[in-house]
Amino acid sequence: MKLNIALLAGDGIGPEVIDQAVKVCDAISKKFNHEITWQPALTGAAAIDAVGEPYPDTTHEICVNADAVLFGAIGHPRFDNDPSAKVRPEQGLLKMRKKLGLFANVRPTFTFPSLIDKSPLKRERIEGTDLIILRELTGGIYFGERGRKDNENTAYDTMTYERHEIIRLAKKGFDMAMKRSKRLCCVDKANVLESSRLWRETVQAMEKDYPEVEVSYEFVDAVAMRLVQWPSAYDVMITANLFGDILTDEASVIAGSMGLMPSSSIGEKAKLYEPIHGSYPQAAGKDIANPLATILSAAMLFEDFDLSDEAKAIRAVVNKSLEEGIVTEDLADGAKAYKTSEVGTWLAEHI
Ligand code: IPM
Ligand code: MN
Repeated sequence: MKLNIALLAGDGIGPEVIDQAVKVCDAISKKFNHEITWQPALTGAAAIDAVGEPYPDTTHEICVNADAVLFGAIGHPRFDNDPSAKVRPEQGLLKMRKKLGLFANVRPTFTFPSLIDKSPLKRERIEGTDLIILRELTGGIYFGERGRKDNENTAYDTMTYERHEIIRLAKKGFDMAMKRSKRLCCVDKANVLESSRLWRETVQAMEKDYPEVEVSYEFVDAVAMRLVQWPSAYDVMITANLFGDILTDEASVIAGSMGLMPSSSIGEKAKLYEPIHGSYPQAAGKDIANPLATILSAAMLFEDFDLSDEAKAIRAVVNKSLEEGIVTEDLADGAKAYKTSEVGTWLAEHI
């Protein structure tokens, strides 16, 4: 297969982890006879520095014309403590999601047998965890009306959802549930929020189209608790943008390192793959960041192009590296820590 992939390395550790994913993808395409063309493009603080804009039109053009986007991370500390900054790297991320129509963010959480004791949670609680949080990504409070009034003394952000936005996300959730254990949990705050009541009403109305799927409805605060108490109780979860943002960070702890969990963001046409961790500026340029989340995101990419053997080959070699202790310092636990680039090279060679 010929694949044209936009490569948005971004900021912080983004370029380092992306380099490793490219090594692994190139090894896969050699082994399975594919042809990948990489199209690098600027985003984040790197793009602000170069052209004054975190998601330039030239980058958007490249993304729209690509088969998929592989994304590193964006964010830079010099913007974080400056509330007056007019442009921020994160705006680029939100603009990109909106302009590419990436309404469904797929964030799986699973455990690796060889890492189960790295999790801060007890083994018996997390064994068998294999869940997917499907986060709505282009609506809700992230994109609602916001502003200041009363001489800047009042600030507001609004959470707005239209029925069609809920339907298209929920459809993906039901379809995913059908391919898995046929359980779907709708996570909301319908005891307080009107937008959540629309979610619940809309999903309830869709149940008849998926008679085999058992749907549950839970409040987000209770889910925040149950997710770390009994994560294996969940399978596919659908939720609004902000709730999903919070729950997916929480869920990432289950696996033992934030550097492990991949994600995809899907629209009507566009597809984007990125690690769920951020730009980790403290580690930037040190060749110490864990590249596995990005590499496993590339596995999700192959899966979405129906290249399951390729995806399996990536997951298998990742498992092998973990078993053999070819790991970066976040997982080394006193044993030898390998560099980011060494892990990438090892994986590519073993493919
Ligand atoms: C994420 C991030 C982003 C979000 C930030 C960087 C805007 O936390 O992808 O989860 O809140 O969506
Ligand atoms: Mn987040």
